[in-house]
Amino acid sequence: MALPIVEFDPFGGRSVVARPVRPDDLVAVGAMLARLSPSSRRLRFFSPLPRLTPRVVRPMVEVDHVTHEAMVAVLGDTVIGIAEFVRPDPESTDAEVAVVVEDAYQRHGVAAFLFKALARSARRQGVQAFLAEVLPDNRSALALARAMSPDAELQRIDGEIRLRIPIVRMPAPPLASV
Ligand SMILES: CC(C)(COP(=O)(O)OP(=O)(O)OC[C@H]1O[C@@H](n2cnc3c(N)ncnc32)[C@H](O)[C@@H]1OP(=O)(O)O)[C@@H](O)C(=O)NCCC(=O)NCCS
Repeated sequence: MALPIVEFDPFGGRSVVARPVRPDDLVAVGAMLARLSPSSRRLRFFSPLPRLTPRVVRPMVEVDHVTHEAMVAVLGDTVIGIAEFVRPDPESTDAEVAVVVEDAYQRHGVAAFLFKALARSARRQGVQAFLAEVLPDNRSALALARAMSPDAELQRIDGEIRLRIPIVRMPAPPLASV
């Protein structure tokens, strides 16, 4: 399915584009993950030093765009973030979501932008809510969830926080002029 490319300008004149991931993003996505701080890696992968081998990264870029979708945020030629959802049961209206933005570009709205772009394609496939498990000290993810939906629900289970974020009324990001 052709997904819309969207862009925004959080850094004053340097547009960030969100587009569906491609298999040839393997090296760029791997490099972005390798640049993450130990803290961001721990919050995304629940482990400070995951082995970011092609075996780990390849499933993130070789998605089927049906049960697994991913969008990358690209600044110039550099991938600076990736958001993905997995929906193993096509009958379910919920999908598991994960997002990470490179440390140097955090707190500029990139995750919110990627999230809206991903939600747009998820809604087209009938997804109504994103689910995420996050560590209890992950203030950024909790803030992101609240910013994305005032109806986001939080549940503490076995030392983790389970988020449910309705996406039905989430605004779409601006379409790219490129
Ligand atoms: C969580 C993460 C993706 C947020 O990325 P980001 O690009 O910095 O987020 P944004 O700039 O789009 O911020 C979205 C909202 O969250 C808020 N926010 C983000 N980080 C915050 C923080 N540390 N403290 C308070 N608020 C924060 C922003 O102010 C914004 O709210 P607003 O729209 O009301 O201003 C990023 O911190 C990250 O990659 N963390 C490591 C991986 C991770 O935790 N992933 C989530 C679990 S899978």
